[in-house]
Amino acid sequence: MWGGRFAEGPSAIMREINASIPFDKALWRQDIAASKAHVAMLGAQGIVSAEDAAAISAGLGTVAAEYAANGVPEDWALEDIHMTTESRLAELIGPVAGRLHTARSRNDQVATDFRLWVRDAIDEALSGLNALQVALVTRAGEHAASIMPGFTHLQTAQPVTLGHHLMAYYEMAARDVSRFADARARMNRSPLGAAALAGTGFPIDRNATAKALGFAGPTANSLDSVSDRDFALDYLMAASQCALHLSRLAEEFIIWASQPFGFVRLPDSLSTGSSIMPQKKNPDAAELVRGHSGRITGCLVSLMMTMKGLPLAYSKDMQDDKPPVFEAAGLLTLCLAAMTGMVEATTFRTERMRAAAELGYATATDLADWLVRQADIPFREAHHITGAAVKLAESRGVALDALPLADLQAIDARIDERVFAALSVEASVAARASHGGTAPIEVGKRVAEARLALGLE
Ligand code: ARG
Repeated sequence: MWGGRFAEGPSAIMREINASIPFDKALWRQDIAASKAHVAMLGAQGIVSAEDAAAISAGLGTVAAEYAANGVPEDWALEDIHMTTESRLAELIGPVAGRLHTARSRNDQVATDFRLWVRDAIDEALSGLNALQVALVTRAGEHAASIMPGFTHLQTAQPVTLGHHLMAYYEMAARDVSRFADARARMNRSPLGAAALAGTGFPIDRNATAKALGFAGPTANSLDSVSDRDFALDYLMAASQCALHLSRLAEEFIIWASQPFGFVRLPDSLSTGSSIMPQKKNPDAAELVRGHSGRITGCLVSLMMTMKGLPLAYSKDMQDDKPPVFEAAGLLTLCLAAMTGMVEATTFRTERMRAAAELGYATATDLADWLVRQADIPFREAHHITGAAVKLAESRGVALDALPLADLQAIDARIDERVFAALSVEASVAARASHGGTAPIEVGKRVAEARLALGLE
C-alpha cells in the first residue's frame, strides 16, 4: 500500500510485529458496514460516480459473503482487516476498488469499526445484565420471607431475608446497566471522515455516514476522533465493575455451598466432580467467575497503559487496543451467563439458613432495641445489658430466647415476659421495615418496583 515511498518490502519481523489481522479480523462485519456507508456517501456527494459506488458496494457484499462462508483469510502481508478487505475487493472488481479509500484513512476507519464493535459489546452486556436481573428478582420474590443470617466481617450480625440479600445484587446490576448505558450514549458519535488526522478537502457528508451507521452524529474534532479510545476504556471500566459484582456474587455461592454452611445446593450443570474424591461437587463455575473478574480488570489496565503516554494523533501503539477489549467482552458474556444460570437453578436450603440465623445471637440487637423502646433505657446502656445476657447464654450454650425470664431479670429488672416475642428471628426481620430494610414487606415492595422497571409486570 505504501510501495511508492519504500525501496524494499517489510522484513519478516516487521511483517509479524505489524500484523493485526490475527485479531482484528473480528471487526470484519463493522469494516464492511462502515465501507458501505462511506462509499454510498461518496456516490451521493458526487466524489465517485454512482456507477463506481454501486460496483464497490456490490463487491463489498461479495467479500462479506465470502468471509461469512469461509472466515477471514489471515495474510500478515496485508496487515489488517482494512487492507485484507480492500485487496480482496480489488481482486473481485479491479482498479475501481481503489476509489473506496477516497477521503478516508485507516485511522478514521479503525476508529469507526472499533466503536461499532464496542457498541455491540455494550448491547450484549446490557442484555446479559437484564437476564441476571430477571433471575435475581424472581428468586428474591420467592424468598422475600426466607430467613438467613446477615453478616458483617462474615460474622453473624442480624437476621435478614434471602430476598433482601439477592436484591442487593439486583441493585449492583442496576448500577452496571446505568454505567453501560451512559458509556453507550457518550460513545455514539461517528469518527468517520476525520481521515488521517486533519479532516479532508473532499466535500464529504459526515452526518450522512453517521446516520447510516446508527450514530447520533459526527465527532467534533478530527485529531480527537482518530486518537480517542475513551469509548473502549468506558466499556472496560463498566465491564470491570460489573465483573467485580459478579465475583462477589460468585463468592457468596462458593461460601454458601461449602459443607459447614450448606445454604445451597448448586445446580449440577454448573458444578464439577473430583477425579479422586467421589463425594466432591465443586463450585468451579463460580470460582472461574471470581477468577475471570481479575482478568477483565487486567484488560482495563492494559488499555490504560497503552494510551497514557500517546501524543495526538494516531500512534501504532493503538493497534493494541483491540485484544484486551475482545478478551474482556468474551469473558464478561460468559460470567454473566454463568451467574444468571446459578441464580436461576440453585436450590436454597432455607431450613439450614434459618437454623444458622438462630445461632450466633443474631437477635441481640433486638433485645437492646426492646429495652430502649419498652423500658426507655438509653441505647448504650441497653447494649451493655444485652451484652451481659449474651455472655450468660453463651456460658450455658443456649440461645438468647432460651434463657429463663428470672435470669434475664437478674441482669436487669426492667425486662419482662414480652421480650420473648421480640427475640425470634421472624420478629427481628419483620421489625426492620424502614425504607430499604430487610422486612419481608419491604423486600416485597422493592421486588415489585424492580419487576415494573424490568417490564415484567
Ligand atoms: N491496524 C491498524 C490499527 O488497528 C489500523 C490503523 C493503521 N493506521 C496507520 N496509520 N498505520 O490500529
